[in-house]
Amino acid sequence: MTDTTNERKLKHLRTIESDPGSDRRRYYFDEIRLKHRALPELDIKDVDPSVEFMGRRLSFPLLISSMTGGDHELVRRINFNLAKAAEATGVAMGVGSQRVMFTNPVARDSFELRRLAPTTLLFANLGAVQLNCGFTIEHCRKAVETVGADALILHLNPLQEAVQPDGDCNFAGLAAKIAEVARQLGKPVIVKEVGAGISAEDVRLLTDGGVRFVDVAGSGGTSWSRIEHHSLMEAERRNLGLTFQDWGIPTPDALRALAPCRDRITLIASGGVRSGIDMAKAMILGASLCGMASPFLKPATESAEAVIGVIETLRRELTTAMFLLGVSCMDKLIGREELLLGRWGDGEMG
Ligand SMILES: Cc1cc2nc3c(=O)[nH]c(=O)nc-3n(C[C@H](O)[C@H](O)[C@H](O)COP(=O)(O)O)c2cc1C
Repeated sequence: MTDTTNERKLKHLRTIESDPGSDRRRYYFDEIRLKHRALPELDIKDVDPSVEFMGRRLSFPLLISSMTGGDHELVRRINFNLAKAAEATGVAMGVGSQRVMFTNPVARDSFELRRLAPTTLLFANLGAVQLNCGFTIEHCRKAVETVGADALILHLNPLQEAVQPDGDCNFAGLAAKIAEVARQLGKPVIVKEVGAGISAEDVRLLTDGGVRFVDVAGSGGTSWSRIEHHSLMEAERRNLGLTFQDWGIPTPDALRALAPCRDRITLIASGGVRSGIDMAKAMILGASLCGMASPFLKPATESAEAVIGVIETLRRELTTAMFLLGVSCMDKLIGREELLLGRWGDGEMG
């Protein structure tokens, strides 16, 4: 394993900053209409957006999705600001891939967030494909222990790997290795994509292996295909990353397709979730938690207060949407497809 992971993560951050198109802004959630209630028969003060997830009460169902970590002042600042904001607002947070700390131990402290977020629901993170590249259950345990995490996220990124000239593209037999980790870890394992979605066939493989949490991380938001394209040197580019930049299952479609699996799996929605209205729609489609990544990046480089500002706006938006739907609590929102209107309400895909 070469020690280029740290440099690559920094390059990604610079690419995202310089290329606004890396957030595809497809707004797939806009295609969904909800049933407005002119008579909500509620006082907005009585709307409670809090939710229980993994046995913990969150102030509302928000996950600051996995982004970064490494040996650099910028990524430390991002992670520390995110952790402080998550703790102050009572939402969940995931760290970015921890692979870097195994090749560059100095990076470890960027993931040590428990001291900043003593009561926050925290998720560790590794690329699942690393289980085919020498990583074992011991690496998974170390990742969890470093964060002080409540669960481990294993991310699936076959598209991101495939558009790199030297990506780790051996995904053969991975479901069995993920199952082994889920059996042995002693903490919940969450499997997520990174922006191309997870299908019902994938979920079947995962649930057969004992995984109980899936983040669909569908298309519509951050495109790793595009980011990898722009992170490559000119001579390495084959335009594959641009050709595939919008590949994947849009997040609302992924959620809808997984409705029959909901008795076996707890769903997280991420990928292009951009407002509290999107969050309400994702919850109606069966998600128990909503993740957002790139909208937090810029505020996290500034301050914890800037991140808190974004979180408070989302909470206000979600609460307002619940009020206008005549819904007082999360139990009356999650999976309640009778709140959908039009084609989505008829059970048709977008
Ligand atoms: C800067 C950045 C870095 C990311 N790094 C990781 C990572 O290390 N591990 C992971 O599982 N997902 C990673 N993601 C993917 C996000 O967690 C999320 O699944 C995806 O970006 C879709 O959410 P969004 O559209 O709100 O950005 C990253 C996203 C961003 C924006």
